[in-house]
Amino acid sequence: MKIAVFPGDGIGPEVTREAVRVLQALDLPELTLFEGDVGAIAYRRHGRPLPDETLEMARAADAVLFGAVGDPSCDGLERHLRPEQAILGLRADLGLFANLRPATTFAGLEGMSALRPEIAAAIDLLIVRELNGDVYFGDKGTRRLDDGQRQGWDMMAYAEDEVRRIAHLAFRAAQGRKGQLVSVDKANVLETSQLWRDVVGEVAADYPDVALEHMYVDNAAMQLVRDPGRFDVIVTGNLFGDILSDQASMCVGSIGLLASASLGQRETAFGTFGLYEPIHGSAPDIAGQGRANPMATILSAAMMLRHSFGREDDAARIESAVARALADGVRGGDLGGDAGTGAIGDAVLERL
Ligand code: NAD
Ligand code: IPM
Ligand code: MN
Repeated sequence: MKIAVFPGDGIGPEVTREAVRVLQALDLPELTLFEGDVGAIAYRRHGRPLPDETLEMARAADAVLFGAVGDPSCDGLERHLRPEQAILGLRADLGLFANLRPATTFAGLEGMSALRPEIAAAIDLLIVRELNGDVYFGDKGTRRLDDGQRQGWDMMAYAEDEVRRIAHLAFRAAQGRKGQLVSVDKANVLETSQLWRDVVGEVAADYPDVALEHMYVDNAAMQLVRDPGRFDVIVTGNLFGDILSDQASMCVGSIGLLASASLGQRETAFGTFGLYEPIHGSAPDIAGQGRANPMATILSAAMMLRHSFGREDDAARIESAVARALADGVRGGDLGGDAGTGAIGDAVLERL
């Protein structure tokens, strides 16, 4: 089992360390961990946010555990040198087009939701975010207009193949859950979204057992806080999925709790190759203080065992240990408590 570990910047190394401890505590056969540089640290050491050595390491691995990238000191760099290009480059190069971001209520945590506890109690949803297209990867630039002022532009585009493959994946995910799929777009305004809606509607014919609903993204943002329990699977594009998943995290209680899996088509000897990371970033405001909640990264390691290694039992063990730690009142600063990063890791390890 070859796992490439890319801790990255800010709290990335802090939270990744705890997830690695959890992996090492399990009895995994022939576990080999490789560590590589990504983000601002890679830029400082190698002059590039995603060095070739790192990319090679990812390609040679069965799965990647990713911390976070981003550093305010790099905000002035040319775009291709910025830390964020590391994660975008990995997603593109490795063909990771499907980003699964589950959001589920934790027993005892309802009071930490930004919503009223009775509204937060029933959250059990999965956001399926397309990860290789949209405005993220379209042509972009800054140009001079005739009157001399600058104009920034980013092209939003989806080819129907890109929509079709993520739609199939989302329908299959819904089949394995409650059979309800909400496709989120802005088809009342955007051509990209009209095509998205048309193609998702075509794919629906293959899944008569799944109930499909189309929803505009502004309404979806509202419904997500009005009644998040109404959602089962949400499928959406790269940008809308990015925004809605941060929002979903506060419906559950904290961005320090939400894990993700980024999958493509490559199969390994064990399962589907994937990259696993918390949905949060490098949190420069708390970096280096041992205050970050590592649960999102630990839960990402659980998703790795499930999707890339076929080890459902180990995945469920980790998830149960995290859930019990939370039920027992283990709380990081993000949840109003004072448990530090290492103490939260200890609490999860004890419950494994
Ligand atoms: P962020 O997610 O890093 O932080 C937002 C807020 O949430 C901050 O107040 C932070 O302290 C808090 N937070 C985040 N994770 C936490 C955790 N595990 N425990 C406790 N609190 C936590 O978002 P941001 O501040 O907008 O971005 C900071 C940097 O991270 C930027 O450079 C951004 O580009 C980058 N970023 C990277 C990724 C990634 O690597 N995949 C994801 C998002 C943002
Ligand atoms: C995420 C992040 C990234 C994204 C950034 C850092 C490129 O916000 O993983 O959610 O927008 O996808
Ligand atoms: Mn994000």
